[in-house]
Amino acid sequence: MAQPRILILGAPGAGKGTQSAKIIEEFDVDHITTGDALRSNKDMDISDMDTEYDTPREYMDQGELVPDAVVNAIVDEALNQADGFVLDGYPRNLEQAEELQDMTDLDVALYLDVSEEELIHRLTGRRMDPETGDIYHVEYNPPEDPEVEERLEQRDDDTEETVKERLRVFRENTEPVIEYYEDEGVLERVDGEQAPDEVWEEVKATIEDAA
Ligand code: AP5
Repeated sequence: MAQPRILILGAPGAGKGTQSAKIIEEFDVDHITTGDALRSNKDMDISDMDTEYDTPREYMDQGELVPDAVVNAIVDEALNQADGFVLDGYPRNLEQAEELQDMTDLDVALYLDVSEEELIHRLTGRRMDPETGDIYHVEYNPPEDPEVEERLEQRDDDTEETVKERLRVFRENTEPVIEYYEDEGVLERVDGEQAPDEVWEEVKATIEDAA
């Protein structure tokens, strides 16, 4: 099987990062994630790109989208170096979806469907291990090792206020992207509200069918 080209879509907290980690292990593809790329470059100077703010940080900490020109350049460069991939966090609006169409073809666009109440619960309880990047949840998936538990951190944008704004931005900008891929005939909906291993069974089978 050729290496699959996978898009993973879903609201903040839908489980894109959790499922992407399993996909890269199973299918040996690159993980291209605009959120992680931007978090590693939060303070880069983007003032020469005619943007409202001078760094990604100001957009991200308010739950707003970073300007398309910045994100498109990140994805374009990453795709040039990838054979198969799982693209996570992009596209987030119709302009980005049209840009992506000029960059690559896709085998499947997976949409993880989760209710808003559950999304808020997941994001406000999410914790990250700064040493490994592993994702945990205080209730659903706490670490077993007390040393790991001790060093866990909460993401700057996982406060309740910013989470609500991120969900508003998702509804306004990214929901139309889901319809776009439905019209393109590559969208596959997955019930993201199940336990992570059950979501994974569906995700894996869907990719195997599509690739
Ligand atoms: P980004 O990093 O992409 O964040 P996001 O889309 O808001 O998604 P998250 O990473 O918050 O959630 P996730 O779906 O990966 O969930 P996870 O697996 O961690 O973007 C951050 C910011 O960057 C944006 O706000 C924007 O400013 C900027 N940005 C990024 N891309 C951009 C773009 N293209 N254009 C412009 N700006 C851009 O899971 C969440 C929690 O739930 C975890 O604790 C996990 O343990 C738990 N969990 C996961 N699955 C389950 C399950 N099945 N059951 C129970 N718990 C679960």
